Amino acid sequence: MGVRPGALVVVLGGCGFLGRALARDLHHRGYRLRLPTRHPDRHRDLLVLPRLELWEGDVHDERFLRKIAAGAAALINLVGILGERTPGDFVRVHEELPARAARAGCGLRLLHVSAAGADPASDSGYLRSKARGEQRLRALAPTAIVVRPSVIYGPRDHFVCRFQRLLRWAPLGLPVPLAASPMAPVHVDDVVSGITAALARTAAAGRDYGFCGPEVMPLSEAVSAIAEISGRARPRGLSPGTSLLLARVLGHLPGPPFSVDQWRTLRAGSVCPAGALGLRDLGITPRPFREALKDLVPGSC
Ligand SMILES: NC(=O)c1ccc[n+]([C@@H]2O[C@H](COP(=O)([O-])OP(=O)(O)OC[C@H]3O[C@@H](n4cnc5c(N)ncnc54)[C@H](OP(=O)(O)O)[C@@H]3O)[C@@H](O)[C@H]2O)c1
Repeated sequence: MGVRPGALVVVLGGCGFLGRALARDLHHRGYRLRLPTRHPDRHRDLLVLPRLELWEGDVHDERFLRKIAAGAAALINLVGILGERTPGDFVRVHEELPARAARAGCGLRLLHVSAAGADPASDSGYLRSKARGEQRLRALAPTAIVVRPSVIYGPRDHFVCRFQRLLRWAPLGLPVPLAASPMAPVHVDDVVSGITAALARTAAAGRDYGFCGPEVMPLSEAVSAIAEISGRARPRGLSPGTSLLLARVLGHLPGPPFSVDQWRTLRAGSVCPAGALGLRDLGITPRPFREALKDLVPGSC
């Protein structure tokens, strides 16, 4: 059964970029929300929403997961990391957590956000662990809905805002690693609409959806569009070899801005396979990146 307004929805990772947009939208539609977080003080602003609860706790603790799932109709998992602080983080966050969520949310409607390009055989730890997490989830919860978005952009995102910041420091043109890598940037509001539509639709149970924008473009084109609209110099593409060298150097910095694993993730591309179910199957027409950028830049970071 689809979930209807009035129901309690638990959102793991609900205080992140996508989670905040989703929480606001679900609240607006009349759902009740419960958001676990490690840092409730940082997210107090969300408490202006009267039907939203913030619970401090560790989502990797299954007892805590069972506690927050009590009384809920649906559980959404958005927890994800782009890189490991310590070896084993990808397995813990992307593989073990979906399985824990499936056990704690047994009987609830489950929706799990993975990533476009997830592949159990990938040499990227990020994409490999995302795919294995899907497999572990499916083994325990065959009716869970899996969503695989391409790069998500929107106000205060990790993509447009990041490149806007970097472009400021490169007056002669920002060097862009793996410039030819394909992606289909998708607006956060379209991803949110897709998730809410899938939650409400009974027939979405057990399905996988690729959430992509309408245009596939190389990374260089996406960054050029950001540069153009921000009045910055056109970026310069780096070859795969030079990009790998850069990743090896930057990968040694703390909280690395670009690592070898991210190089592998980027090289794999971030597109939805032809024939996959997507936003249009949920009644959503995704907006084009260049058009949406005009509303986003400047002032949304
Ligand atoms: N953004 C994109 O372009 C994109 C593209 C494809 C797929 N995705 C996937 O979409 C999901 C949401 O992405 P996002 O951009 O919203 O991410 P985000 O802004 O980084 O938020 C992730 C959330 O996960 C929680 N989290 C992170 N690491 C954790 C850990 N080790 N243990 C427990 N909680 C942890 C954080 O919660 P607290 O700090 O509040 O505890 C945070 O709110 C992720 O699964 C991501 O892989 C994102």
